Amino acid sequence: MVPFFYFSAIILWHLIINKKLMDIKILRCRICGEVFIGRQTPSNCPFCGVEQKYLVDGKVWKDENDVKLTDISSQNLIKALEIELSNTAFYKCVSETSSDSEISSMFKGLSKVEKEHADVFRKILKPKSDPEIDENCSDDSLASLNASKERETRATKFYTQALSDATEPRLKEVFAAIMKTEEDHLALDNEMIRKIQ
Ligand SMILES: [Fe+2]
Ligand SMILES: [Fe+2]
Repeated sequence: MVPFFYFSAIILWHLIINKKLMDIKILRCRICGEVFIGRQTPSNCPFCGVEQKYLVDGKVWKDENDVKLTDISSQNLIKALEIELSNTAFYKCVSETSSDSEISSMFKGLSKVEKEHADVFRKILKPKSDPEIDENCSDDSLASLNASKERETRATKFYTQALSDATEPRLKEVFAAIMKTEEDHLALDNEMIRKIQ
């Protein structure tokens, strides 16, 4: 009799846990505002790449982008938007030019993430227009990876400075979150360079 109740309790417990895992979640990113619908919480935002901790229940999400900016933060956001648009254009160029499928896929992904970063900065800065940006690239994987490494290093350095200039809590959070994704991109560049050399 005891084993019967014991096994029933275990089966019931598994059913409850599985039901919890199977529930479809509606999550929203506090940094980019995009929505993820799925059964498992991803390790990073699938759109802007920030860490899982920024993904919140759609029920509690709110727009936090109405920020009163200091002059230095406005200037830094103009520069940040320029960096992100330039990286978006360069990565898109490589994804469309490379004959290596893995490199093309990597840069397609990077381009989408950087475009999302540009959108984040645009939502806070609310500029009247974007700067004109055009980038060139070649079908040389190593050159593209090294160029990406330079771009990510430049972005990370700039966000470190912008973060220390910022006094607005929202902006501090956004610069810190996005800077972390650029560090991930830099790590990916280094990994890919090691792989192809
Ligand atoms: Fe996001
Ligand atoms: Fe970025």
